[in-house]
Amino acid sequence: MDLHVRLGEGGLVEQIFGQVAEQIGRGVLPVGTVLPSSRELAARLGVSRATVVAAYERLGARGLIRSRPGVGTLVVGEQSPIAATEGDSPLRARRIWDAEVLAVPELTAPVAEFNFAVGVPARTEFPFARWRALLNDQLRTRTEANYADPAGSPRLRDALARHLVVSRGVRIAPEQLVITTGAQQAFDIAARVLLEPGDTVAVEDPGYLPAYRSFLAYGANVVGVPVDSEGLVVDQIPDRTRLVYVTPSHQFPLGMPMSEARRTALLAWAAEHDAAIVEDDYDSEFRFTGRPLTPLQAIDSEGRVLYVGSFSKTLLPALRVGFLGIPATLGEAARRAKFVADYGTAGHLQAALAAFIEEGDLAHHLRRMRRSYERRHDLLINTLRENFTDVLDPIESSGGTHLAALLTPAQPSDTELAARALKAGVNLGTISRWGIERRSPNGFVFGYGAIPVDRIPAALAVLRRVI
Ligand SMILES: Cc1ncc(COP(=O)(O)O)c(C=O)c1O
Repeated sequence: MDLHVRLGEGGLVEQIFGQVAEQIGRGVLPVGTVLPSSRELAARLGVSRATVVAAYERLGARGLIRSRPGVGTLVVGEQSPIAATEGDSPLRARRIWDAEVLAVPELTAPVAEFNFAVGVPARTEFPFARWRALLNDQLRTRTEANYADPAGSPRLRDALARHLVVSRGVRIAPEQLVITTGAQQAFDIAARVLLEPGDTVAVEDPGYLPAYRSFLAYGANVVGVPVDSEGLVVDQIPDRTRLVYVTPSHQFPLGMPMSEARRTALLAWAAEHDAAIVEDDYDSEFRFTGRPLTPLQAIDSEGRVLYVGSFSKTLLPALRVGFLGIPATLGEAARRAKFVADYGTAGHLQAALAAFIEEGDLAHHLRRMRRSYERRHDLLINTLRENFTDVLDPIESSGGTHLAALLTPAQPSDTELAARALKAGVNLGTISRWGIERRSPNGFVFGYGAIPVDRIPAALAVLRRVI
């Protein structure tokens, strides 16, 4: 048979193996094909016979070829998948991992003509070319090649501290910042640093389930506390609570900011009960209206607030970069916890991000995206107010990348309506999905990060026909 193998630079065995495997995979060499003998192929390629034998052995080990006495070496089939060894081990995970709430949710938005996926920023507007150039610079200089300070690169922490003062009015010294794998790891570190298993943690209900999961998996007793139009209902926090998790700038998922009165009340409550507060400021850079709300961290005179941020909304979730700003007394413990968890966040990524902030790219990107999201937000809320008054009541929010709207009382469940909308080509989130302990309000969450502004009218026209 005619076997084409072209040898270039690099390992000979690898090349022969790779090219034959590829041809089998593509069906160029169908099952049943007899390959040339190792002696023949070695002679043809001008390599030693041992080289061809080694390549054939690897192909055999992958289940791609088999030698049959009297016939030769045969292609026997596509690479068979490696079977999982399910059910044959006496080992069982801790009971907590059976909890339904810890199941990994569907992370990719369903394919739909119109996409109001929640928590997805505008991928198409991310400056990929610039990011690639910055990463390449890091790779070229070969500086970030070793283990480094687990709390994060001093350069990035410095740039971030400056950025936070300007963009959020938050004053956190670089030494008080830990660079994390997304906001998610910041919750995990907060739990490791502050909680004993069994301690009570209060979270907003409805609220951000990934944070809830983090505290739950750590072994905390996590309690959902209701939210109203002013945010977390502070006087319903259980007395014994050690840590309160809140999203004061833009309550997740409902979207209203926490009122000034509630902020003051929450800080006073924490002081009185000797508790910590984890403030998740995940999308506050995108603020369109009203005067900027001061983060809890900035009005906390007692040092009880741990400030969490993320680049998942401002840049891309796939970068997996976030940060934790901590009171100085917890700094070393948090650094140790990050070290124990993963030794530190990837060096090249941190260096590229530091340059991205220092050279003004982040500020520029934020300005651009703020305008872009504001246009989407305004069009969305105005259309809902004009054409959906009988069915939907949007919740005022001052920014972010999603808008929630309550269904009027006579409407079916948000889950049922969202399923109908998806069938008609509109993907959108539901509020009920984010309930912790109590029944959530019935309504939709419209993420507007993934949908271009000019698609919004058509999307809402389709939705209007469904509800
Ligand atoms: C409330 C809230 N916090 C934090 C995040 C970001 O999480 P991470 O940085 O782990 O991607 C999100 C993203 O969807 C969010 O909605």
